[in-house]
Amino acid sequence: MYSLLLLALSATSSAALHHAPEQIHIAFGKTPDMVAVQWSTRGLERAEGGGPEGQQPRSFVYWGKDPTHLDQAAEGLSISFVDGGARKRQQQHHVVNMTGLEASTRYHYQVGDPAYGGLSHLYSFKTAADAVTLAADLPIRLAIYGDMGVDKNGSTVVGHLLEHMHGDPNYLDGVLHVGDFAYDMDERDGVQGDLFMRQIEPVAARLPYMTSMGNHEKSFPYAILMIQCLRALDMSQAYNFLHYSERFRIMPVSDGEVASANGPPAPNNWWYSFNIGPVHLVAVSTEIYDFGPYDYIPRQYQWLEKDLKEANANRTLAPWIIVHGHKPLYCSSPTPTQCDNWYRSQREGIPLRPEASATAEMRGEGIDASCLRGKGRKRKWGLEELFYTYGVDVYFCGHEHNSERLFDVVKGETGRRTSDMQGTTYIVTGAGGNREGVTPFLSQAPARVASRAEVWGYSILEVHNATHVYYEQRACDRGEGRDGKGRARDEVVDSVWLVQHAHGPFEGVMGMGSGDGALREKGRLAVA
Ligand SMILES: [Fe+2]
Repeated sequence: MYSLLLLALSATSSAALHHAPEQIHIAFGKTPDMVAVQWSTRGLERAEGGGPEGQQPRSFVYWGKDPTHLDQAAEGLSISFVDGGARKRQQQHHVVNMTGLEASTRYHYQVGDPAYGGLSHLYSFKTAADAVTLAADLPIRLAIYGDMGVDKNGSTVVGHLLEHMHGDPNYLDGVLHVGDFAYDMDERDGVQGDLFMRQIEPVAARLPYMTSMGNHEKSFPYAILMIQCLRALDMSQAYNFLHYSERFRIMPVSDGEVASANGPPAPNNWWYSFNIGPVHLVAVSTEIYDFGPYDYIPRQYQWLEKDLKEANANRTLAPWIIVHGHKPLYCSSPTPTQCDNWYRSQREGIPLRPEASATAEMRGEGIDASCLRGKGRKRKWGLEELFYTYGVDVYFCGHEHNSERLFDVVKGETGRRTSDMQGTTYIVTGAGGNREGVTPFLSQAPARVASRAEVWGYSILEVHNATHVYYEQRACDRGEGRDGKGRARDEVVDSVWLVQHAHGPFEGVMGMGSGDGALREKGRLAVA
């Protein structure tokens, strides 16, 4: 009898263990009164001794201002996620919205199913500042990085962020991870993705972890990549970006859904926007230019144009427009020429076949995406023209495994300004740490480059008010950098105040090289 009881208890605890919430992360909602949370539980086929056949934990979140009295509750979606690899490894993703929240307020929460699998640790987060941001809510401070991974230096950044958060839970307001997460999420049938999500949970369960997609979230063999390169195949039929679409379902959706190899379409987290205090923050996909689906290029462009137009009309409340994506539009590693060539499609537009009709172009059928693409052909849907037409203040990206801050740039021209900029300021922060190593700078920096560093680390952006943001790059290299001479601990290697008194379109404004800093164009919003 006693042994039977032990057996029953063992089976119960096994079920609880298998279905315990893990990989918990949160995201800003579309408005400050909402925060979304997502977590994973393991699939039934691995839950030996689990509950009744077909039973899955339900998706509950309990929250409140008092950590001892979580007086609010909501139930959300439970989605079966099947990795695209040979084992078809399965897990449940749980997605719930916490709504009716007050802005700039700390809430405590737990997720899970009390009846099956149990509840998570007690975590807390602070909601976003709203549009009428009080001085007490400023600065808004974001940690920004890309290209992290789970080995080499990957966990170091997480450790440093946690040190800051333990010192002051309100120190950071959120994270922007600008693509290339786990190297790669789909490896070993998705185990790598699980490892990465567990690695970031201590940060991502406490800070809204906002994302844009990178090339390491695609999923197909290198040989197919070469075929794609030669034949311009649209790779949307592979398990491309499956893990990204499904693991970060909670981004604030702004433009419908995207196709998902998991089955039904997923919420579109490839491009989206939301406001936090005086900032309109936009995520874009640079990867659709290289991997498709090519009809997403005109779709994203049209959405972005509308979004930026509206944001530009709302500068009184949100004067700063900041965009993030994975690949640079401008950089200088390994050389400026290589960088200019590699990212020309994202910057200037994708090459189109001359004979393609406008309708075919919109369907992505007129796009020439082969390796031979580009020369002498018309291009369309480049991101830069939208940046200067609607006055994007800063663009953050990764992909190059280093950090590089450029001055204001329009069409390759720079005024070398950090005050009253006449073009978008471009910042590469792809030094999160990963198995591929640091990307070196192999030639002299061109005039548009302000600062660069070949060391692992992360960026901090502080938004102080309508006119001033502060940026710094911190090195945290535990000795696995390119030269093996790291050991930096949270050292500031670059810092700057970016001051903009008149936010608005840059088109026609650029008097690059004049050095007078005068902003002459009408229609730009002067901020008191
Ligand atoms: Fe990348």
